[in-house]
Amino acid sequence: MFTLLPLPALTFSLCHTSCNNIPINYPFGVDDGCGAPQYCKMLNCSTNLPFITPSGTYKVQGIDYNKKTPTIYDPSMSTCSILQPHHDFVMSEIKSVIIPPAPDTVFTLLNCSRDSSVLNHYRSLCFNFSGHSCDELYGSCTSFRLFHLLSNNTPPCCFTGYDTVKHMSMNTLDCTHYTTVYNTDGLHGVAPLDWIYGIKLSYSVPDTGCDRCGRSGGTCGFDVETEGMVRGFKMLNRDLDSIENLMNGF
Ligand SMILES: *[C@@H]1O[C@H](CO)[C@@H](O)[C@H](O)[C@H]1NC(C)=O
Ligand SMILES: *[C@@H]1O[C@H](CO)[C@@H](O)[C@H](O)[C@H]1NC(C)=O
Ligand SMILES: *[C@@H]1O[C@H](CO)[C@@H](O)[C@H](O)[C@H]1NC(C)=O
Repeated sequence: MFTLLPLPALTFSLCHTSCNNIPINYPFGVDDGCGAPQYCKMLNCSTNLPFITPSGTYKVQGIDYNKKTPTIYDPSMSTCSILQPHHDFVMSEIKSVIIPPAPDTVFTLLNCSRDSSVLNHYRSLCFNFSGHSCDELYGSCTSFRLFHLLSNNTPPCCFTGYDTVKHMSMNTLDCTHYTTVYNTDGLHGVAPLDWIYGIKLSYSVPDTGCDRCGRSGGTCGFDVETEGMVRGFKMLNRDLDSIENLMNGF
């Protein structure tokens, strides 16, 4: 069932369809009543399209609506080419449930102490991916070579999944730095300098017909007061005329 009412059309005409050159489609929305209630206003249509969590402000780099995977980048994260001050990655409880990092996003814990739980009791949480070992990072990244130079041995590190980081902070893990890499399945034979640093998130929304509606040029939204979905409104010139008439009538 599609609800085609003139009033929601008025709301939808105020929905941004892109921010910072990134299309904003269902379930996201940066304006009141746009997208799906739980994802609406998760992003803010200002410079860099920030995705905010308790540990920082991340830049949305793109959103793949077919795979349902936005990618974000933490400008203050260390990578193969730059070492930045220690910090954590923390997501709010709700975001970690409705838009957690995707399974092919690998968290690399660096400069861990030998007593770190991920090297002892929880060592099974660490893995090698696509033929890469952690030691390779210390060897081939100028930034991470510093850990080695300063301590005169190679401090342990660990490739792990988001669940580890979700349950234990960097301090608990006893590692001073982390970096994140995504699309790790495709990184066979690729040197760490060329890995894709950042975090790929994944969301899932029930199929409410909004994909179809989006492809036809429509927008999905909801009634701000009742949170009831309003689906598949397609903006046609005819509708624009009727909105104008409606507005003139006010
Ligand atoms: C979006 O970000 C701007 C600048 O940081 C801020 O002033 C504004 O309140 C934010 N809007 C929302 C809806 O969070
Ligand atoms: C690496 O970790 C040790 C503690 O285990 C710390 O003293 C040192 O400052 C860290 N190195 C860097 C470059 O942050
Ligand atoms: C990862 O690779 C390194 C070097 O090849 C090896 O020493 C280590 O045991 C491997 N770790 C795991 C968890 O397989």
